[in-house]
Amino acid sequence: MSLPGIRAVPTLTYHQTIPPFTEHFSETDGDDSIDQGPAGGWAWDGRASSAHEQAALPLLSSYEMANASPVAAIARLKQSPNAARFREAFGEHVLDDPPLAWNALLLALEVFQQSPQDFYPYTSKYDAYLRGQITLRKDEERGLALFNDPLKGNCAACHPSAIKRGAFPQFTDNGFIALGVPRNAAIAANRQRGYFDLGLCGPIRTDLKGRPEYCGLFKTPTLRNVALRHAFFHNGAFHTLEAAVRFYSERDVHPEKYYPRRKDGRVRKFDDLPSDYWTNINTDAPFTNGDKKAALSNAEIRDVVAFLLTLTDGYVPTKAAKRPAERVGRGPGQAR
Ligand code: HEC
Repeated sequence: MSLPGIRAVPTLTYHQTIPPFTEHFSETDGDDSIDQGPAGGWAWDGRASSAHEQAALPLLSSYEMANASPVAAIARLKQSPNAARFREAFGEHVLDDPPLAWNALLLALEVFQQSPQDFYPYTSKYDAYLRGQITLRKDEERGLALFNDPLKGNCAACHPSAIKRGAFPQFTDNGFIALGVPRNAAIAANRQRGYFDLGLCGPIRTDLKGRPEYCGLFKTPTLRNVALRHAFFHNGAFHTLEAAVRFYSERDVHPEKYYPRRKDGRVRKFDDLPSDYWTNINTDAPFTNGDKKAALSNAEIRDVVAFLLTLTDGYVPTKAAKRPAERVGRGPGQAR
């Protein structure tokens, strides 16, 4: 419980439509013969296949609840103030049968996450915009256009923003991508020189070890409520939304701003991934792969951030519908 972790905590919200992990994802609509590669699952590496399985991870992780085993977790639950309500829900003798109680505990957490108002309320300003209740401010509108433009942000290629077959967007395609995010020196495990968090291929996830094509790949997260986060990307290397967006625009143009230099002065790009796996790193737009010009200007980065701020839940359309400019950044969710 007191040990430092090794990854930024991913959100559990807007996960209700995530498919279980598969190595060969294909769209159920359109051309289902196209293999889009690995997709789905919970956690940064997709290693839990459902909310039920995910719930076990923090309960047993030495960095989080640090229960030594399911039996130990149930012994604690038995002593806790929640025991009486747990018995009410699952039967008087449930806590005397650890395997049964463990399953019930995971079920309780799974069902809790099916509560729309807590986990997928769709109450952001952008949702109000999609419902036609309000217009966006000019900078937010420009940001949305940049976000969608394949030649500029190209963000929607992985973080889809449009209504699809009636469903509001989750801002993730559930795919796995290597972005080459810089190493985060604040992670204790990174003090070990040879240690690398390689995502899909390990070491935390174990079933895809020995699959070099998967090394460095992490799951594309939802961007809903992203403005409420304090650490961005799997290793929390960035601490502001602007810095995260700027990284996309500048990774290949100004690598010296993101990666350390070698003794000879050359920039050690992609310092959190061994060079064997650099071919896995994504170079599509907005990355420029050798071009001299950043994909987004400073003003455009600000616009994209303004758009991302519209994805925070808790926006109240009423008065704001007339004067949306006054509301931004002051929704109930953004004060925290
Ligand atoms: C090729 C797919 C792809 C594209 C294009 C893309 N992203 Fe991402 N995005 C990802 C993946 C994968 C991650 C997680 C990577 C990691 O942690 O190593 C991520 C993470 C993020 C995060 C951090 C979220 C969090 O919860 O930590 C932000 C913010 C973000 N993307 C915004 C954007 C914006 C803005 C754009 C366009 C300028 C964009 N992304 C384009 C795949 C993509």
